[in-house]
Amino acid sequence: MKKFVIGNLKMNILSMSEREVYLKGMDRVTTGKKFTGTEIILCPPFVHLEGFKKWKNKKVKRGAQDIFFENNGSFTGEISPVMLKNFGCEYVIIGHSERRKYFGESGEFINHKIISALENDLHPILCVGETKAEKDEDYTLEVITRQVKEALVGVSRAKAGQIIIAYEPVWSVGTDALPSANEVMGAKLLIRKILHELFGKKYAEEVAILYGGSVSAKTVQQVCIDLEMDGALIGRESLTPGDFIKIAEIINNS
Ligand code: PGA
Repeated sequence: MKKFVIGNLKMNILSMSEREVYLKGMDRVTTGKKFTGTEIILCPPFVHLEGFKKWKNKKVKRGAQDIFFENNGSFTGEISPVMLKNFGCEYVIIGHSERRKYFGESGEFINHKIISALENDLHPILCVGETKAEKDEDYTLEVITRQVKEALVGVSRAKAGQIIIAYEPVWSVGTDALPSANEVMGAKLLIRKILHELFGKKYAEEVAILYGGSVSAKTVQQVCIDLEMDGALIGRESLTPGDFIKIAEIINNS
């Protein structure tokens, strides 16, 4: 299966000039490099999508950090899947833990977004994972099961292969705390099992399962490669082109 290295730039890159510096840096570190079998994807804030679309670098695909589920209309402040397509996006992060936490996104809401992304031929990157409190109370597997099942209600088998799932323990996002190999493997096997139940083996195997949370060039071997994850979702380290591409090279060469 293809591997994915996805950068979530979050609410960073504050100006057009900062964007230019970032994109030039990305050009510099990707020049002369081949990434065979690995998709490199960057998800900038919405205001930068046009700048990223005009950017010439063909080694990097574009994604967004969120969508709304209607295609157009009176939804003040929202961005539709059709807009994302027209601005060069092929991927979209949905259900990130920061959206669940700060914006109260429910499983049902996330499900509408997944369906809408799929209908518009975008690849949803669904984030699931337990909080520290849920882990401490031993609810990790229940939480993952609920989040995956809620998000995928009504998704047809034929569309399953379009989906990417990132297991991101919330307590590892932005903290440098890392899960054990058993924790990541447990989550991965559980997600694969649910996918088998939902879509049947053949279609379930087409869904990429990534790891996210404090991934760096130092940790990627331990949390992704050794555990045969299909790639990584990267926050902080995606803000520095050299660090991000180093991780992509390690994954690509593994
Ligand atoms: P991090 O963030 O790499 O900074 O831990 C990951 C994420 O939020 O997806």
